[in-house]
Amino acid sequence: MRYGVTRIAVFVSGGGTNLQALIDAEKRGELGGGKLSLVIASNGKAYALTRAAENGIPSAVVNRKECQAIGDGEFDRRLCGLLEENEIDLVVLAGYLSILSENVTKRYSGRILNIHPALIPSFCGPGFYGLHVHEAVLARGVKVTGATVHFVNEVCDGGPILLQKAVPVEDGDTPETLQRRVMEQAEWELLPKAVALYCSHRIELTPTHARILPQ
Ligand code: GRF
Repeated sequence: MRYGVTRIAVFVSGGGTNLQALIDAEKRGELGGGKLSLVIASNGKAYALTRAAENGIPSAVVNRKECQAIGDGEFDRRLCGLLEENEIDLVVLAGYLSILSENVTKRYSGRILNIHPALIPSFCGPGFYGLHVHEAVLARGVKVTGATVHFVNEVCDGGPILLQKAVPVEDGDTPETLQRRVMEQAEWELLPKAVALYCSHRIELTPTHARILPQ
């Protein structure tokens, strides 16, 4: 923390609409005093990098395949090196498709948040990302889905749940229309709210539960 400000790194892989929600919240002064200080993309084509550049946020690309070609552990070394150089306090996974190793999740234990586009423990875990989540929701025929913000630990989508919001599944939904509704009605609201709670120190965290403290 520099000058009492929570320095935030956002990890991205795609369009960056969740990053944009964080950027807009910071501009409105609704990020609990946190500062978006770094964007790390898993690939150089992520439009989220354009959003970072347009808003003056430093960014970097750390690609797993490229790192693996250099050697074991290079991916983790690069990620942790960037987080340390930029004095990052909180990592936010926003549409990030790479799985973090225990090296990273343990080093930043209690300081990594993820937005998942379903109501955990439903439709989560390995293989449940992006449109696949909404395809499974429609295939199962559930009437309600939503989004979850949770802390990241060593279990995929298994960390303490912080915020959730339900979103109706509507007749005629396609994976795309459902994804859009979950993003608009849940993800883009929950993620900035979760980051603000963290930055204003209103979360009591145990290994299994995250409790929001009263204001
Ligand atoms: C979307 O599937 C979203 O539901 C999930 O990650 C994907 C891309 O999000 N969280 P973003 O637009 O890159 O934030």
